[in-house]
Amino acid sequence: MGRMKDQGYGTTARLFHWVTALLVFVMIPVGIAMTSEGFDGIRDELYIVHKGTGATLLVLVLLRVAWRLVRPAPPMPDSVPPMQRKLAGLNHWVLYLLLVVMTVSGYVRTVGDGFPIEWMDFLGVPTLLPEMPEVAGIMSVVHKFSVYALMAFIGAHIAAASYHGLIARDGVLGRMWPPVRRKN
Ligand code: HEM
Ligand code: HEM
Repeated sequence: MGRMKDQGYGTTARLFHWVTALLVFVMIPVGIAMTSEGFDGIRDELYIVHKGTGATLLVLVLLRVAWRLVRPAPPMPDSVPPMQRKLAGLNHWVLYLLLVVMTVSGYVRTVGDGFPIEWMDFLGVPTLLPEMPEVAGIMSVVHKFSVYALMAFIGAHIAAASYHGLIARDGVLGRMWPPVRRKN
């Protein structure tokens, strides 16, 4: 029977986190490949995967943020200095913001230009927006540049998680890993 404080995030938050992380790790290389030279043979397939996985991620991210607002983060171990807590909290909200920006801009960029999202069509999900090429053009730029910010903040995030897991060994990593909370 561990204290609540020691158990970290609940299983729902953990599953959201790791499914999101996995999908983002697929989205970034697929997005880069499909917009690069040398992938002509599989470009259409890459786009289909990117748009379908991305639209799925859009729903997941909105559900996840809603869940986070209902279930606040568990308190950090006392050993984490106040400044680190502040930075961690800030980085987390920037990550949420960038996930929303990336998925919404990708969606608007796609349907706003009249392109299909094959996976959503297959599921019977209707297109939620009219065609709006000017907005789509702006969203294309937003999408293209926000991904650099996303990669930078993910880099800082993984560096911090590695520090906690490998050097400080203060239990912070165990707040999110493994994806299912252990009963103790
Ligand atoms: C976290 C989610 C996402 C990530 C990390 C991501 C990542 C990327 C990356 C790295 C590129 C290449 C950027 C470049 O042109 O240099 C890209 C392009 C693109 N993405 Fe995404 N994407 C995400 C979500 C979405 C979603 C939800 C859609 C549509 C439903 C989408 C549709 C597109 C399209 C159509 C392009 C081509 C961009 C253009 O040429 O204007 N993406 N994405
Ligand atoms: C190897 C990759 C990753 C590791 C090891 C990792 C590890 C962690 C850990 C240990 C926490 C809990 C921090 C705390 O106790 O306050 C956390 C939280 C979080 N992670 Fe990750 N993470 C990874 C990838 C990602 C990715 C790719 C994203 C988003 C694109 C992400 C977004 C978040 C967010 C938003 C939180 C805050 C959770 C909340 O308080 O609502 N993580 N991560």
